[in-house]
Amino acid sequence: MRTTRRFHISAVAQTQSLTKEDVVKEDDPSNNVSDAIFSKLGINLHHRPNHPLCILKEAIYEYFEGREPGKFQKFDKEPPVVTVKANFDEVLVPANHISRSYNDTYYVNKETVLRCHTSAHQAQKLREGHSHFLLTGDVYRRDAIDATHYPVFHQMEGVKVFSNDEWVDAGLSSVNYIEKDLKECLEGLARHLFGDVQMRWCDCYFPFTDPSFELEIFFNGKWLEVLGCGVMERQILRNTGRPDDRAWAFGLGLERLAMVLFDIPDIRLFWTDDKRFTEQFSAGELRQKFKPFSKYPPCYKDIAFWVNDHFTENNFCELVRGEAGDLVEEVQLIDEFTNKKTGRTSNCFRITYRSMERSLTNEEIDAIQEKVREQTASKLKVELR
Ligand code: PHE
Repeated sequence: MRTTRRFHISAVAQTQSLTKEDVVKEDDPSNNVSDAIFSKLGINLHHRPNHPLCILKEAIYEYFEGREPGKFQKFDKEPPVVTVKANFDEVLVPANHISRSYNDTYYVNKETVLRCHTSAHQAQKLREGHSHFLLTGDVYRRDAIDATHYPVFHQMEGVKVFSNDEWVDAGLSSVNYIEKDLKECLEGLARHLFGDVQMRWCDCYFPFTDPSFELEIFFNGKWLEVLGCGVMERQILRNTGRPDDRAWAFGLGLERLAMVLFDIPDIRLFWTDDKRFTEQFSAGELRQKFKPFSKYPPCYKDIAFWVNDHFTENNFCELVRGEAGDLVEEVQLIDEFTNKKTGRTSNCFRITYRSMERSLTNEEIDAIQEKVREQTASKLKVELR
């Protein structure tokens, strides 16, 4: 199941790499973070000056600097290992919310997760007394596999706090005043990044804001969701010792925007060290279009099995990612049926293997696929067909 939209109604300064041993104390059964995921901690793509994610981060900083010089404090080194409390409780995510499930979130243990959004730092920063900040970091979500979904991506959170005299002087209610400031600010950001584009606001739901909105822009012939935002729930401010303040907050996904701005066709490219990718971008150049280098041929393998009650697509994708790493481009459910007599359900998944950097050999893909089959049978306890 897709988790990018899951907050909707339907839905120690770390500079070096952490290892699994640093984080997981013993072989904790409540840990569902694979080694493939642990290996991403501390890579910090958003710190590399000529990387598209960092170029975008800097462009957003530049916009805020131009609009309110010297106001917004920037954070981009907060470690991604956070408490359940910070990630969910302090931003008022309900106890039974789907995003808290082991299927959707990486748990290091019962009390600790890999943050699934940068909103995990809202309460902490408010408590420390910050009133204007932009906070960027790597976030982690268990999800399906395709060209736009990767279990690690990057978000930027923005928060601005207001005090009583501001809305009183303007003759507006606090909510109206803050909503107006928020929308003007973010429309300006979209223009700064995308130029003169058509935009629209959609109402939506987040547990931490009310009212909540999404900004969409019309780009390359399609409406594209750019960010989520809203007027911060007062309970968050009260809980952080700021009962008289009001605030807005927004969160945006850097990959999503960078893919559009730089014409990057596959989310795995952000992680490659291939010079044909990395040398195409330079600091300060925002709308530089990526020139694709020749794509290597894909290799498709199907796997079919009888599922059980515990089976989830996310668990299967995690397992495939564990065996194939970045060689897996997509996992697609291509057939599903239930045997009328036995009541058993069969799923058939097509796995697309492709390297961004080289041609794959049949032998290596066959070997990976064989491992995927073995692991699927033994770990997910399904019956292969
Ligand atoms: N945390 C939200 C998400 O990950 C984005 C968001 C941040 C929305 C702040 C509103 C306010 O989808």
